Amino acid sequence: MVVEGSAVSQNILNRFCSASQPTIKRCLAAALLFGVVSMVILSYYVSNNQWHSVIREPPQPSFRCHSHNKRLIKSNISATNIHTASGKLRFDPKVLVFMETQYSRLGKHICEVLEASRIKYKVEVAGKSLPLLTNHDKGKYAVIVFENYEKYLSMNKWNRGLLDKYCVEYSVGIIGFVPSKEETFVGAQLKGFPLFISTNLKLKDYYLNPSSSILRLTRAGEVHFGALPAGDWTIFKTNDSSYEALAWARPQHFVPISSEDVSPFLPVIVQDHGLFDGIHRVLFGNGFKFWLHKLLFLDSVSFLSHGKLSFPLRRYLLIDIDDIFVGEKGTRMKPADVQALLQAQERISSIVPGFHFNLGFSGKHYHRGTEEENEGDDELLAHSSKFWWFCHMWSHTKPHLYENISDLEMEMNLNHQFAQEHGIPTDSGYSVAPHHSGVYPVHEQLYEAWKRVWNIRVTSTEEYPHLHPSRFRRGFIHRNIMVLPRQTCGLYTHNLFMERYPGGAARLESSIRGGDLFYQFVFNPINVFMTHLSNYGNDRLALYTFESVIKFLQCWTNLQLSTLPPLQLAEKYFQMFPEESNPVWVNPCLDKRHLAIWSSKKSCDQLPKFLVIGPQKTGTTALYTFLSMHPTIVSNYPSAETFEEVQFFNGKNYFKGLDWYMSFFPVPINSTGNYLFEKSATYFDGDLVPLRAHALLPHAKLVTIMISPIRRAYSWYQHMRAHKDTTALKYEFYEVVTANDKAPKNLRDLRNRCLNPGLYAQHLERWLTFYPPSQLMIIDGEELKADPVAVMNKFQQFLKITPFVDFTNHLRYDPQKGFYCQVTQQNSTKCLGRNKGRHYPPIDLLAQKFLKIFYLSSNIALSKLLTRLRLPIPQWLEDDLS
Ligand code: A3P
Repeated sequence: MVVEGSAVSQNILNRFCSASQPTIKRCLAAALLFGVVSMVILSYYVSNNQWHSVIREPPQPSFRCHSHNKRLIKSNISATNIHTASGKLRFDPKVLVFMETQYSRLGKHICEVLEASRIKYKVEVAGKSLPLLTNHDKGKYAVIVFENYEKYLSMNKWNRGLLDKYCVEYSVGIIGFVPSKEETFVGAQLKGFPLFISTNLKLKDYYLNPSSSILRLTRAGEVHFGALPAGDWTIFKTNDSSYEALAWARPQHFVPISSEDVSPFLPVIVQDHGLFDGIHRVLFGNGFKFWLHKLLFLDSVSFLSHGKLSFPLRRYLLIDIDDIFVGEKGTRMKPADVQALLQAQERISSIVPGFHFNLGFSGKHYHRGTEEENEGDDELLAHSSKFWWFCHMWSHTKPHLYENISDLEMEMNLNHQFAQEHGIPTDSGYSVAPHHSGVYPVHEQLYEAWKRVWNIRVTSTEEYPHLHPSRFRRGFIHRNIMVLPRQTCGLYTHNLFMERYPGGAARLESSIRGGDLFYQFVFNPINVFMTHLSNYGNDRLALYTFESVIKFLQCWTNLQLSTLPPLQLAEKYFQMFPEESNPVWVNPCLDKRHLAIWSSKKSCDQLPKFLVIGPQKTGTTALYTFLSMHPTIVSNYPSAETFEEVQFFNGKNYFKGLDWYMSFFPVPINSTGNYLFEKSATYFDGDLVPLRAHALLPHAKLVTIMISPIRRAYSWYQHMRAHKDTTALKYEFYEVVTANDKAPKNLRDLRNRCLNPGLYAQHLERWLTFYPPSQLMIIDGEELKADPVAVMNKFQQFLKITPFVDFTNHLRYDPQKGFYCQVTQQNSTKCLGRNKGRHYPPIDLLAQKFLKIFYLSSNIALSKLLTRLRLPIPQWLEDDLS
């Protein structure tokens, strides 16, 4: 039609200018008219965005797998290798990575690949001392990786001997990257091995050895034609039968001397079968600049770990098409696009059995496109049974903007009604929120409304815990709704045409062919991708992208692609990664994206600035009470359930979510106003508390109080007796602390609560793996008892709080109570209740002796820790250690 339109205006011009006596005026007028008509026609097409669709066909995924060079294949392409060993393996499934320096590039990439594959690893800087390799006759590492293999070759004799001995004894293999060099070597021998290298080569055409037993993820049979990146390749040469090539390449510049000369195949990765010294190795002649090397690295890890670090080959795929019916006029799907979608679905399902596109709709925008696009809407509905469907929001609004749950429900009900009227299934149990709003950070109203209206059990987001780096994205379960991590495929609402793809078509291509998108499939067993309606109209970029990457995966990998409906997919995910079920709430204000999808009514100023973490029976209530006397320090509202303490980070309260936690704190007038804090004395020894507290409050200050752990244990025992605990009433203190593991459960539980919090060093070290020492204050509980004014002064300095309050006039020793108490306005004293500062018989000597020995090693560790932190050793610790 554009061609026709131009022909009309060209006609006008011809008729005017070819008249028998054309005047310049007439010609000029005709040219002007021609211009105007052309502009009108052009603008019509551009404004309707029809230009592209009329003059060009959407791009098609065109490549096929190349057939392998026949000369290299003696047998058929090998079946997928299974790397499991027959014998019993005596090592942990963990990799030890020797990096060249702390910041070296390849080393960082190696760690990233391991992280993305969820493989545990430890990093050491090569050349320093060797870490401990064994633990009680068990190897600590399954594979050793050298970022620079030369560091292995030049290790000092002693360490090299230890490492080699470890590898032989525990059947542990080594992966080494032979780096590029400033000097170019030709046929240089690798120190101590019958293996020779040439360096700094420019290579092309990459071939795999189909009979290599290393190949597992990687599928032999394909050749990467063309120049290989970087001109610093190392190749290997040997006549020794211990070595076998895993991959070859050819020189970029080959000058034949005779007519029979053919360009040679040069080994670029070799496998050492260990015939020489009993150690299996894989040596790479280049790092990860070449895309295939990450895959071959993972195969090498799997092979050398005898399958302990290999993962299932099945990959699950779900492609969401968000924004169905949404989208600007002129960018939406037309009937032909819907047909193309159906055809692509059929083609994909021949490779991914049962594959369905998963369509998320917002009914309010139905029939709001051009006439043709409205037909496209109807075409989708006419074929609704051929797709999977899920609900979006009715008007595509962000749920976190709704404070009122009934407004949110109304939005959802409208979409539900629309679905019923238009034959869209409503039972998938899956939903997605526009812009991930309300999913994470959690908007409780959204979860509640989803459950009520749509019976939602599954959703997905890219935002947990953060969008970047994508390799750390995870899932979690909240209020019985499973949240799956979502992968990014590089297609957003505005990606309509190939040539306008950000960074150009080549960028999308490289993501597909061994780049980001390809590796999402390699790394993630379950992939949920988000695409949009507009990616299926226009150039249908999503169809191109996914069909291409699926074909590329077929060519180069042995991955088996599958799909499952969202509910089953989520169940599968949490079966695979049960450890992810429990969420870790991170601070929404430390991620701009999170903040943008968090209710504006919420503020991080409503979170505590410091935590009094305990442990119990050390004087935490006294400290809490004294702190509350300060005009700008404000504590949490008391909780009826947990004796005033919130106890959020340590127990099941954590699963009630961030809103629940924040409801215990007043909304501060401004961020510099109130200094909020919370005291939960059980935090100190809770295994997960430091991690959780740090995720939410990384800048918070921490306060702990310590008294002799022996006295603390006895105080707890007396506390339980005062609360009429039957076990504490039944057993003497000595019986409790000396109970062994065969004792009745209630006795063991009481023993543990008496003893465990007092292992101070162990708990402090855990806190210090998350928080820097500068954020931690340790109060001597004996000083708090004897001189609380001094403690309060030091504490205010630590907090850097204003105004500074001198507590001299606010605290006074009460001889009757035997402790310091608050001075009231009437100048009398208000002491803590009867259950704080109890009177009970002194601790019996036998128990004291036993506990002194019990805590000895922990107390020694504490004394070392305090010295390391440059803190004074309290008198009670000196006494306990004497
Ligand atoms: P006892 O009751 O065994 O003497 P917590 O508040 O952490 O449970 O600690 C209670 C302990 O705080 C008491 O244990 C008491 O020894 C100590 N404490 C310190 N200063 C106090 C004070 N000013 N008033 C009451 N108890 C105080």
